[in-house]
Amino acid sequence: TDLTPFNTFGLSARAAAFVALHDAEALRDIVRLPEFDRKSVLWLGGGSNILLMEDYPGLVVRIENKGIREVGRSVGKVYVEAQAGEIWHDFVLHTLDAGWSGLENLSLIPGTVGASPVQNIGAYGVEVKDVIHSVRCFDLDADEFVELDNAACRFAYRESLFKQEGKGRYVITAVVFALNERFEPDLRYGDLSAAAADLCAGREMTAHDVSRAVCAIRASKLPDPNILGNVGSFFKNPVVSAEQAARLLVQYPDMPRYPQADGSVKLAAGWLIDQCRLKGFQCGDAAVHDKQALVLVNKGRASAQDVHRLARHVRDEVAARFQVALHAEPNWLPESYRL
Ligand code: EPU
Repeated sequence: TDLTPFNTFGLSARAAAFVALHDAEALRDIVRLPEFDRKSVLWLGGGSNILLMEDYPGLVVRIENKGIREVGRSVGKVYVEAQAGEIWHDFVLHTLDAGWSGLENLSLIPGTVGASPVQNIGAYGVEVKDVIHSVRCFDLDADEFVELDNAACRFAYRESLFKQEGKGRYVITAVVFALNERFEPDLRYGDLSAAAADLCAGREMTAHDVSRAVCAIRASKLPDPNILGNVGSFFKNPVVSAEQAARLLVQYPDMPRYPQADGSVKLAAGWLIDQCRLKGFQCGDAAVHDKQALVLVNKGRASAQDVHRLARHVRDEVAARFQVALHAEPNWLPESYRL
């Protein structure tokens, strides 16, 4: 099976075996297939956070189960369960149309509902962990369906149990969200407040307004993967010590920085890369996006080698100039390509 249409960077790779999952219950059968091997199976969602560097030698299971339903209410909250294969942005719009808020800041993020907890997607001041009630999974150790509550998922910035100890153990089949019946805007992020206010032009602001403002900001900076292949942010924003941040600030007083609760400081990888004058820099058909330096794009037929050379070059330039280590956000497959 050709995996090119199933990864948003548009790398060309083939899978040795492929099956689509339409119903979570079918997992019980899939794990009993002769070609199933826990160690080599690839659970694939929207393909917006993977770099397929080589043909995939094992079984690829594409998670496509669909369905959205209300599962309960309690003071001011509505609990909504979405199956893992739902397209994230379609789900966000569905909740807004139903009059529920909480996901508007996370509009237009590529990928699926089931992938959202894995790297704890986040944008415009909100992380998905803030609205996740629980995650339903198939536990390959127990050969049973389990439900993990928010705390059990060990969420952190672009991190979770599913990328750490739980990697290869849990197959996410559905996510339960705790949404709000009454809209309370979260407009802490930079230019979001002004953009949303512009859209509602004097009348009372709705969650739809915030969603539309987020979509407009994203569209102005981030490439549409249907037009220009990409995996969103290619690097995580690096977290450095207070001392190192202070040292850098002496030299670069305008450097964007986000102090963390533990005293460390998160920096903007896009700014660091931009300072190295790398916007538009190209290796073969892989390039640094010209509107947001944190995103690498496929200008046509980028090869896995183009992407790898470019990513290493960006990392090396930033390390040389700022002594800050960048780490890639998407998963390299195989992992041995990790920077
Ligand atoms: N900046 C530059 N030049 C650039 C890019 C950014 O100077 O080329 C500066 C901006 O001016 C701003 C700062 O860097 O002062 C931060 O930029 P931005 O607000 O665009 O956000 P980001 O930190 O680059 C993060 C997330 C995005 C998310 C935005 C908005 C990560 C790795 N990325 O990007 O998430 O949409 O904030 O909240 O945390 C993703 O993960 O795929 C993603 C797109």
